[in-house]
Amino acid sequence: MSEHSEILARLFAPVEGGMARMRRVLEEQLHESSDAVRDMTDHVGRFRGKQLRAALVLLCGEASGNTTDEHAKVAAIVEMIHLATLVHDDILDGAEVRRRMACVNQRWNNQVAVLLGDFLYARAFGLSTTLSSGLCSRLLSETTSKLCVGEIEQSTRRYDFELSQADYERIAGAKTASLYSAACELGARYPGGNERVGELMRCFGWDLGLAFQIIDDVLDLTETTEQLGKSAGTDVEDGKVTLPVLFVYRSADEGTRAAIRDVYTAAGIEDRARKLAEVCDLGPGLRAAMRRAKDLIAACRERIVSLEESPARTALLEITEFITERRL
Ligand code: IPE
Ligand code: IPE
Ligand code: MG
Ligand code: MG
Repeated sequence: MSEHSEILARLFAPVEGGMARMRRVLEEQLHESSDAVRDMTDHVGRFRGKQLRAALVLLCGEASGNTTDEHAKVAAIVEMIHLATLVHDDILDGAEVRRRMACVNQRWNNQVAVLLGDFLYARAFGLSTTLSSGLCSRLLSETTSKLCVGEIEQSTRRYDFELSQADYERIAGAKTASLYSAACELGARYPGGNERVGELMRCFGWDLGLAFQIIDDVLDLTETTEQLGKSAGTDVEDGKVTLPVLFVYRSADEGTRAAIRDVYTAAGIEDRARKLAEVCDLGPGLRAAMRRAKDLIAACRERIVSLEESPARTALLEITEFITERRL
């Protein structure tokens, strides 16, 4: 992890000051006088995560020549919404570990974790109402509803091996690319001007976020909980048919397909992700998914070449590489 922290610190260097301000805002917002709640906010605040979305707000602002005193606050709001989605997502996924610590739903319980997620959303939107422009509230409320739609649709399509790649990408886009895209658009446009660059950065963020989720789904199959710092193998465990599995399933013979379905559904299987790797060769599916992610990364890099050269633009390009090569 420390190796990654150093890499991230270098990538975020052009917006170092803004990131420090963003972290201060985040800390203030997580503060709560109720002891019971403070125990939980301390818990989720202890390990910070990569903070990529917050950095994207600031870097996209810098790279498009749009910086304001409020950008750090906008970045903190985006990061708080991300944190709320993680708390809720871990309930949905029955996950145990997040950011190398027990998930809120494990350390406490599902009921309280729902409320902590709600608390974080409320704090984030409360803070957004203190901004001078309504753009942040508007864009992030649209994004949050998209995100919820994505998580709900994903849940209703569990165990669906007929899911098309387009449907998978629509769902992954809604649950993950939407917040990436909003972060980049807000950076470029907040408090409201520069629609053309806003649109460009929105598309940049969408492709980047979709690639991020595809890679996340690859890592869920290839890495351990220890490496990721969050529960690995939960996608298979929860019946999520992710892109690498879809690719393998699509080109498998009927016998292998039946074996794959069985691994997902049969009672009493200890480690479904490991079992899945035994009944089929995941390699071609993992490689095809990585190819799709890399195509999206290439497309998003292409979008920002028209921006004037700057340390922030270079950092954005390096972030696309980091995301492609990341193992956590
Ligand atoms: C995890 O996001 C959730 C997904 C969209 C896959 P990150 O990997 O950015 O989480 P943190 O904030 O670094 O922990
Ligand atoms: C959910 O995707 C991403 C969110 C929008 C929270 P995952 O369920 O794959 O995220 P992880 O792997 O738990 O971080
Ligand atoms: Mg999850
Ligand atoms: Mg995942």
